[in-house]
Amino acid sequence: MHFVHQITSSDQYLKDYAASIENPALFWENVANEFTWRRKWDTVVDWDFDGPNVQWFKGGKLNITENCLDRHLQTGGNDIALVWESNEPTELNKTYTFKTLHEEVCTFAQVLRNYGVNKGDRVCLYMGMVPELTIAVLACARIGAIHSVIFGGFSAQSIADRVIDAQACLIVTCDVAFRGVKEIPLKSVIDEAMLQCNSVKQVIVCRRTHNSTIINTPSEIGWHEAMSKIDRAAAILQKAEVMESEDPLFILYTSGSTGKPKGVVHSCGGYMIWTHYTFVNAFQYQPGWLHFCTADIGWITGHSYSIYGPLLAGASTLQFEGIPNYPSSNRLWEIIEKYQVAILYTAPTAIRSLMADKHSLVDDYPMASLKVLGTVGEPINEEAWRWYHEHVGKGRCEIVDTWWQTETGGILITNLAGITPAKPSFATLPLPGIEPLLVDENGLELFGNNVSGNLCIRKPWPGIIRTTWGDHERCKQTYFSTYPGLYFTGDGALRDELGNYRITGRVDDVLNISGHRIGTAEIENAINMHPGVIESAVVGYPHDIKGQGIYAFVIYPGIDKDHAQLAVQIKATVIHFIGPIAKPDKIQIVTGLPKTRSGKIMRRILRKIAEGEPNALGDTTTLLDPSVVDDIISGHVF
Ligand code: WT7
Repeated sequence: MHFVHQITSSDQYLKDYAASIENPALFWENVANEFTWRRKWDTVVDWDFDGPNVQWFKGGKLNITENCLDRHLQTGGNDIALVWESNEPTELNKTYTFKTLHEEVCTFAQVLRNYGVNKGDRVCLYMGMVPELTIAVLACARIGAIHSVIFGGFSAQSIADRVIDAQACLIVTCDVAFRGVKEIPLKSVIDEAMLQCNSVKQVIVCRRTHNSTIINTPSEIGWHEAMSKIDRAAAILQKAEVMESEDPLFILYTSGSTGKPKGVVHSCGGYMIWTHYTFVNAFQYQPGWLHFCTADIGWITGHSYSIYGPLLAGASTLQFEGIPNYPSSNRLWEIIEKYQVAILYTAPTAIRSLMADKHSLVDDYPMASLKVLGTVGEPINEEAWRWYHEHVGKGRCEIVDTWWQTETGGILITNLAGITPAKPSFATLPLPGIEPLLVDENGLELFGNNVSGNLCIRKPWPGIIRTTWGDHERCKQTYFSTYPGLYFTGDGALRDELGNYRITGRVDDVLNISGHRIGTAEIENAINMHPGVIESAVVGYPHDIKGQGIYAFVIYPGIDKDHAQLAVQIKATVIHFIGPIAKPDKIQIVTGLPKTRSGKIMRRILRKIAEGEPNALGDTTTLLDPSVVDDIISGHVF
């Protein structure tokens, strides 16, 4: 497949960037023309950020899976679409060509239809990293059902919150998931969640093992049993649902600064254009390359760059069930050699942990097939960037530092591999269509270079969030109201003398733990569920491997209680209510929190204490009771 809109020189980048800003409609119309549409659009873009109301390709009709799959069957469909590598290196891998993946997707689409799932219905997927997850995602898209993937590390309560919010009618899960030495009992977590979820009529269980009996009731069925009842030849001939460009494609829940995760909604047409365009440009994908994104499909990176982006481009995507350090910290290098991976896309936290591992024999693996290395999810420190470049890329691979968010659908700021220059720890320059700007706290734009401020985007791009599920006002409040007329990212950034952007991290109460987003309020809510806890305050602190660690200050009266034991129990409570990703790294039991006279917790002070800089607290005179600060500084941490 030839990509008409792949940028092939730095001159072309400048030209395309200018053209996209000058006339966005003309620019994106040209890109959109490369796809399969059932009907072309009437208007390219219609928008106002006050609504917000953003519509791309209004009047256009399509099905994204026809672009991911059917389009690539015209040349026979025998190219590899998906390679799956198990958690266990000794277990057989699986491969799907575009033709066989298409068949699986059409068959599972028919399963969903037979259970009465219609266009617009919500389907939740709570699965491990098995190929059936990708098949289920695409099958939903095939029939126009809105998929909502829930990361396999979330607890029953987190699942219930999401299923109830989306009013999902069907759930697909697995009996268990394998992750390193751990076996995670997904189905029993679902069983617990289902006690609260009345909207769900059917649960489909994909068996990862051969020895379990987990199908309990008539409203549960095994994946393979359900699939075996379908007439495959007929299923393949069933037409894909024709979707409006602006129909929702999926919901993905993500954390914000309030206690409740919000369902970010992406739509069919714009998301398709954006993931494809950014995939071929950022990574400079070339036909025949194998793309390996290590992200779990439970996160946006997995949606956009393990499934949709690569398949839209006709690329082969490698999905890995395991973790980088099981059974040894050479696992990624083994996979790269085994399959001849060309693009490796991973998170800085993984790079840092492999870098720190004395047993990693990275230098023993030539990895000659590698062409491009990508990072995503959090700022990459210069040391990790250099190690990635020298030891993984052997000094000859391009590195792209891709900045984006769940809400942006795909990459917004990145260098283009080998086309525009990289700068360690900088995401560098915006892609065509993206107008970043920095503002101060009052919303005044900071012009010129060598400035730092809050990162906003001026106009909509095709992949922008459309709404938060069931609560449009919340979408407006969160992203479009802080600085009216602008999309606010929640990140701080610096612009250097050449206009390159360096993302410095969140400026709201959102933490980034190993590249995973989690709100402090959510963790506090979970801690407060622990009996006896009066109040808590959570802040982040720098962590060598995770980027940020979680530090919780907890008010718990009763001095007799063993604080070490209490800390263990509080951690268990957080795991119970959210999941292991939100487990505090440090817990300190305190008698009071630093509050202003109006009762607001001064997190700035807690952050400084957590960072180990108790001498840099700044002004504490506005505190209701300044003595609590001294008590906290002299207290014990567990
Ligand atoms: C937040 C979004 C984007 C997919 C994975 C995370 C941080 C993301 C970078 C980067 C510095 C980054 C930001 C952003 N972030 N990429 N290349 N450099 N920071 O998605 O959970 O929606 O989190 O991740 O803080 O706001 P997410």
